[in-house]
Amino acid sequence: MARLDVMEVFHGISFPGHLHTQDSLQLALKFPFKDTDILVVSYPKSGTTWLQEIVTLISSRGDPHLSQTVPNWTRAPWLEHYYFASVLEASSITPRVITTHLPYHLLGPALQGSKAKVIYVSRNPKDVVVSFYHFHKMANFFPEAGSFPEFLNRFLEGTLPYGSWFDHVIGWTSQTATINNLLYITYEEMSLDLHGAIKRVSSFLQCPLVEDELNNCVKHSSFSSMKENKMINYTLVPEEIMDHSKGSFMRTGKIGDWKNMFTEEQNQYFKRVFKSKMQDCTLEFVWEKHNKEEPHANEQFPQKNTQNCEKS
Ligand code: A3P
Repeated sequence: MARLDVMEVFHGISFPGHLHTQDSLQLALKFPFKDTDILVVSYPKSGTTWLQEIVTLISSRGDPHLSQTVPNWTRAPWLEHYYFASVLEASSITPRVITTHLPYHLLGPALQGSKAKVIYVSRNPKDVVVSFYHFHKMANFFPEAGSFPEFLNRFLEGTLPYGSWFDHVIGWTSQTATINNLLYITYEEMSLDLHGAIKRVSSFLQCPLVEDELNNCVKHSSFSSMKENKMINYTLVPEEIMDHSKGSFMRTGKIGDWKNMFTEEQNQYFKRVFKSKMQDCTLEFVWEKHNKEEPHANEQFPQKNTQNCEKS
C-alpha cells in the first residue's frame, strides 16, 4: 500500500491515502468498542505518540520491554488505518490500546454507551501547526507543505489533512457529559510535570503504580529515551515514506517552538482567528514555558480544565 500521492476525502476531511481507505474510515465509525479498551485521541502533532508510550508503560507497570520491542502502530494501532483490523486480530496485548485522530462528530456515535476509557490529548495550536509543518516536509504521504504562511492559513481555515484543529478540540472536549470515561490532558502538562501527568493517567486507567514503577514510566517516556527508541521514533519507516534526511519525528519536543517560526504579524493574525473560533470555549493553553504570554482569558496556565473530566 504505497498510495503516497492519494488523499481520501471522507465527510469533507482529507486523510492520507497511504494509511486510509474509504472502507477503513467507514469501518472505524462502526467499531464495537469493548469496555476494557483504552482510546488515545488527538489532533496530529499534539502528543499522540507520547501518550501511546505513557499508556503502554503504565499498562506494563514501568517495564519498557513492550515499548522497546513492538512498534507503536502495532501496540496502539490507529482505528482508522487500513491495517487496523488485521493488527488487532493478531495482537494479544491487553488491555487493547487504540489510537484515533478522528473528530468527535464522526466517532462519537460508536462510543455511545461504551465504558471504554478515552484519553484526549491537546497541545497549544501554535506549536501544533509548526510541528505539523515540519512533519509534512518529511512525511511523503502528505501533499506539499508549501510555504509556512500558506500552511498556517490552511491550518486556520481547517483545510489541512485531518481537518480543523478547532473543531477537533472543541468537539472532543465538550463531551464530558456524553462519554462515560474521558480524561483530558495536555502536551504542556506532560511536559511541565511528567511524573504528575503519568500519575493522573494511571489513576484514570485504574492502574495505580508504586513510586519505582512510576519513575520507570517517567524515565522511558522522556524525550531523550523516546528519541532513541526505534519502536516509537519512526526510524523503522522506510525513506520513501518518511524522508529522515529532512528531519526527525522526535524533533524538538518543546513548548513554545512556534516563536522560532511565527512573525509578529502571523502571531497577531493567529490570535484574532483563535479568539473568534474559541470564544465559547473555556479551555486554557500554555503558549510558552516560563511566561504567561498573552492576556487573553483563554491563554493562561491550565489548571481547572486539565483536571480529570471523568464522569462520575
Ligand atoms: P515537535 O515536532 O514539536 O518536536 P504526535 O505524536 O501527536 O505526532 O506529536 C509529535 C510531537 O510530540 C513532536 O513535537 C514530538 O517531538 C513530540 N513528542 C513526542 N514524544 C515526546 C516526549 N517524550 N517529550 C516531549 N515531546 C514529545
